[in-house]
Amino acid sequence: MSKVKTAFFCQNCGYESVKWLGQCPSCNQWNSFVEELIQKDNSKKINGWQDHDDKKINKATKLDEIKVSDEQRLLTKDAELDRVLGGGIVGGSIVLIAGEPGIGKSTLFLQTGLTLKNLTTLYISGEESYQQIKMRADRLNTPNENFYLLTETSTQTIFQEIKKIKPDLIIVDSIQTLQTPFIDSSPGSVSQIRETAAEFQRFAKDTNTPVFLIGHITKDGNIAGPKILEHMVDTVLQFEGDRHYAYRILRTLKNRFGSTSELGIYEMTDVGMRGVTNPSEILITQKDDELSGIAIAATIEGIRPLLIEAQALVTQSVYGTPQRTVTGFDLRRLQLLLAVLEKRGGFHFGVKDVFLNIAGGLKVEDPSIDLAVLCALLSSYEDTPLPNHVCFAGEIGLSGEIRAVNRIEQRIAEAEKLGFEKIIVSKFNQKGLAKQKFNIEVITMGRVEEVYRHFF
Ligand code: TYD
Ligand code: MG
Repeated sequence: MSKVKTAFFCQNCGYESVKWLGQCPSCNQWNSFVEELIQKDNSKKINGWQDHDDKKINKATKLDEIKVSDEQRLLTKDAELDRVLGGGIVGGSIVLIAGEPGIGKSTLFLQTGLTLKNLTTLYISGEESYQQIKMRADRLNTPNENFYLLTETSTQTIFQEIKKIKPDLIIVDSIQTLQTPFIDSSPGSVSQIRETAAEFQRFAKDTNTPVFLIGHITKDGNIAGPKILEHMVDTVLQFEGDRHYAYRILRTLKNRFGSTSELGIYEMTDVGMRGVTNPSEILITQKDDELSGIAIAATIEGIRPLLIEAQALVTQSVYGTPQRTVTGFDLRRLQLLLAVLEKRGGFHFGVKDVFLNIAGGLKVEDPSIDLAVLCALLSSYEDTPLPNHVCFAGEIGLSGEIRAVNRIEQRIAEAEKLGFEKIIVSKFNQKGLAKQKFNIEVITMGRVEEVYRHFF
């Protein structure tokens, strides 16, 4: 049976007393004590983390009376991570990092914990043994005296250790392996994930300790089992990339403390993750001679301009059914572009095999890459290289028109910064665009045919 209790609270400073007092011993205010209901429910200790009973029940407070202390953000020394978090770690925030197995989540957050040398970090692993983590830490080669490891899955034991160590930062790898003794179902089930995450959420809010929860996602990109975690946490980061390429993207999907269009790029090296500060330079092949089938797209990922290379190979089809093979691009989008070229330009791609590759293994969602892909296809078809130092930004419509793209000035500025001499954009982007502001030549075109006439 739950037992309801009351206590007396000083209305001035919040001091709590079991009996009424005339003067508050804490703030010396007279006649400030009021009796209030507090619930002490000892029979149902489902709170996991907090079995201390001095917890006050929250009161409704006027918004005006709430004071905000200056938000202190913790910088991680990792510019990419700081950026996707919206400018560093917020105290008491709970961050979910989702990614496919083997993408490098454990590596990145082990590394983050190890680099924060003046913080006490607790890394809780339910997946790997002490030896395995130690071996990985040795590869990262970042000694840290304040780094604690705990291989445990029961939240009860975990919170006992947390109370002993009092860490400043907690990393849970992974939330799917944890279990709370208050629920019978097996680890990884929805109710377990929800409850264990809720325990960490309460802990984070109560102690103002930031918590990183690592979660596996399934191949189709869902956070395994529970979408529910996304609602409970403050920030959701997705770690993606092709396992066979060295580049990884950390994307913000939700952020209560910053923008969701942020993006961090990492390179997986043999000594851990390295933040890539100038991604465009590595995504473009350093080449001296002009090669056919290559075009550079000025894309935007999140709010970051990125120059990406599209490579196409168009060859005579050997078999009856022509092949279309893509990496890093949507196959249906490629088929659409081929259909546009077939219909508007009279190119016979129906008898050609087409291979398309976006360099670096990045998956580009920005439709502005269309124009570069189309030019790469044409260049390979004609076996005529496009001039170096030209890049493209435009979406292709079904009738062969080049459509406007957003943030055009940012794209142009990035292309200029990387030494490009010409950028081809949609004529519909012309409005309000101050071309003379840039040193790079901005060429506007309205239709696919114009592009063909210009280059081939
Ligand atoms: P891991 O962090 O275990 O992935 P996740 O936790 O997301 O499942 O990383 C797995 C891969 O990273 C593994 O194939 C080995 C590779 N790796 C490196 O390339 N360099 C390194 O320094 C480390 C520690 C791992
Ligand atoms: Mg792991």
